[in-house]
Amino acid sequence: MTAPLVASALPLPLARRGKVREVYEIEADTLLLVASDRVSAFDVVLREPVPHKGAVLTQLSAFWFERLASVISSHFLSADADEIIARVPTLEPVRPTLTGRAMLVRRTTPVPFECVVRGYLSGSAWAEYRRSGTLAGEPMPQGLSESARLDPPIFSPATKAEVGHDENVTVAHVVRALGRSQADQLQQASLALYEAGREHAARRGIIIADTKFEFGTSSDGRLLVIDEILTPDSSRFWPADRYEPGKSQPSFDKQPLRDYLAGLKQQGEWDGNAPPPPLPAEVVRATSERYLKAYELITGKPLEIG
Ligand SMILES: Nc1ncnc2c1ncn2[C@@H]1O[C@H](COP(=O)(O)OP(=O)(O)O)[C@@H](O)[C@H]1O
Ligand SMILES: [Mg+2]
Repeated sequence: MTAPLVASALPLPLARRGKVREVYEIEADTLLLVASDRVSAFDVVLREPVPHKGAVLTQLSAFWFERLASVISSHFLSADADEIIARVPTLEPVRPTLTGRAMLVRRTTPVPFECVVRGYLSGSAWAEYRRSGTLAGEPMPQGLSESARLDPPIFSPATKAEVGHDENVTVAHVVRALGRSQADQLQQASLALYEAGREHAARRGIIIADTKFEFGTSSDGRLLVIDEILTPDSSRFWPADRYEPGKSQPSFDKQPLRDYLAGLKQQGEWDGNAPPPPLPAEVVRATSERYLKAYELITGKPLEIG
């Protein structure tokens, strides 16, 4: 079994360390993304790694990139350790770190907006609607309840904040920043990817309530979908059999973690800020199991644990 990983340290130039991934440079046009097992809840990164989480994110993204390639091209090149090592033989000694969790991708210049699509009214969208009756600045019908299904789904972009929270912006803001043509392309691709993804997941018992896509421009000028796609970290996954509008829904993967931390907060044992409290092994195990279950439900087969 691949050991849980808090942070990778590969013998390659590090381009970026994100909340979950390390990004390494391979060649001018190629990057290696390594998804760690770090997990965050209530905006703090927990100390304990969640076994197999990184592999679930990487292999689920690979599944979707291949399945949705007819909607738009992606940065995906390979998520197979043998193929990656054949391409970069110096990585042979760190094979165990790569297995399952590494993805070779085409390097792009990222578009500076998060392309969020909402098919259900939740999170910051529910907060905006309750406050002003709008979503992404556009008026919405009155009387929608929390977690209501939105038909059609709504494109609701956000800035990419380096620190703190991403900020929701209007489509008009994206048009001003990027021009009408690219803004339209982003909106159309995001809605088409989401529609295809939600339809597939629904048949497997998972509601993808909302999700965030990232796009980038390749060196030959093409717009590609990048980063991770339709994973439990970039989306709200809800168990369909427990869906009940009018309240917040249990989140498929992080619920054991959220319940535990919410309990500590309620008892005044944690103030909600870093440093986070230690997690009981049982909470870590239950969370890992949920990630694996989400992978299995969506792809129709268990994760191959290398
Ligand atoms: N093909 C790509 N080209 C350039 N940057 C990419 C590509 N794919 C992903 N990235 C970037 O790599 C980083 C992935 O690390 P992650 O831990 O997800 O970061 P974050 O904390 O920003 O969510 C993100 O900053 C993402 O924008
Ligand atoms: Mg990310």
